[in-house]
Amino acid sequence: MWTGRFSQATADLVLQYGESISYDWKLYRHDIAGSIAHARAQLKAGMLTQEEFGAIESGLKGILADIEAGKFQWSIKLEDVHMNIESELTRRIGAPGAKLHTARSRNDQVATDTRLYCRAEIDSTMQLLQDMQRALVLKAKEYADIRIPGYTHLQRAQPVTIGHHLLAYVEMLGRDYERLADCRRRVNVSPLGSGAIAGSTINLDRIGIAEELGFAGVTENSMDAIADRDYIMETLFCLSLIGTHLSRMSEDLVLWSSAEFGFCTLSDAHTTGSSLMPQKKNPDVCELTRGKSGRLYGNLVSVMVAVKGLPLTYNRDLQEDKEPLFDSFETISLALRVNTEMVAAMRINPERCAAAVADPLLLATDLADYLVRRGVPFRHAHELVGKAVAVAVGSNTPLNELTLEQFRAISPEYAEDVHSVFNLDRAFRLRTNPGAPNPDNTAHRIAFWQEKLG
Ligand code: ARG
Repeated sequence: MWTGRFSQATADLVLQYGESISYDWKLYRHDIAGSIAHARAQLKAGMLTQEEFGAIESGLKGILADIEAGKFQWSIKLEDVHMNIESELTRRIGAPGAKLHTARSRNDQVATDTRLYCRAEIDSTMQLLQDMQRALVLKAKEYADIRIPGYTHLQRAQPVTIGHHLLAYVEMLGRDYERLADCRRRVNVSPLGSGAIAGSTINLDRIGIAEELGFAGVTENSMDAIADRDYIMETLFCLSLIGTHLSRMSEDLVLWSSAEFGFCTLSDAHTTGSSLMPQKKNPDVCELTRGKSGRLYGNLVSVMVAVKGLPLTYNRDLQEDKEPLFDSFETISLALRVNTEMVAAMRINPERCAAAVADPLLLATDLADYLVRRGVPFRHAHELVGKAVAVAVGSNTPLNELTLEQFRAISPEYAEDVHSVFNLDRAFRLRTNPGAPNPDNTAHRIAFWQEKLG
């Protein structure tokens, strides 16, 4: 592609070191779409005859078909996807092929391809997020009113429901969806026409090209357009955060499926056995998901570090952006798909949940609220309940089984109806504010998501 100035062939090790075709072939569909749009702009500008354009278009479509049929021979001598396709086009159609690269550089070409790739993958990730939300909403509905302890510091805190807990993940994934939709707006602008750095003296219709490729607009500065990888870092951050959310859910499910908690049972299809211990049923999907979050963060950090010290505009370091990007999309796509399946097949064990949520200490805060309703300032109420808890723990008596006398010995603010606090129906009924784990709230939120997710 650049033999004019060179008298030596590129060394084999340099080829091996610099090739990207082993992974950037994945951009082929976008590379071909970009080339057809670029050629059409050349046709409109009178740089190509109709016949030449026709040869380029059908040549590229033929190459596309061969790639999809697995019949295309990629060569590392041709370094990357752009040169592999262009050189094969010229081999097939001759002279018109050699005109294709007019007013274009691989620098704006690779930025275009990567943006198109990102956009398509963002779209499918958004679909997968919604699939996962649907599975969680269905599970939340199925077990909406099953009560469990909620935890802070992994210590029993206050009663919640399976419905409320699972809907927390639906909210997180909802934000992930919005974040990707917003990121997509910055991805979806066309850098084509920026050339190597400073546009071209041959002015093709950038807006027409952008429209053909479904971009919402064109980049406004040729140097920024060539150097910009913000959209990749931003995408990698969005994917990392999805990974974080899935990882936190995984940790909950690892706990829930343990003998100690027993709140849920994962299906045999989504767990694995041990080669040594016959009784084991391991939550490997959860653990892998937790583990893969590290790799998603690593991909984000790799690209940020690769970009941070680069002078404008293109530097070959930027070729290092693609493997992390591809890997994160592939990792998240599989993670979402397998977790969606796993959640759909998961069963909740109501007896184990009921046993755990029967712990009266979960209502210690409600007991303080009871005193507050009777006029006791909260800090004081907190202390009076703390004392009651100490008596209960010290005498090995459940908090709700302390006698009225025992309560009143702590404070006369405890009245005859003190035991009415230890009632889970009441505890949930009283929590009427938006966002609280009240059954009506849960039902409304399930309806909201079902409507939204279709
Ligand atoms: N394979 C290259 C990349 O991914 C394409 C751009 C090459 N540009 C260049 N000036 N060498 O970044």
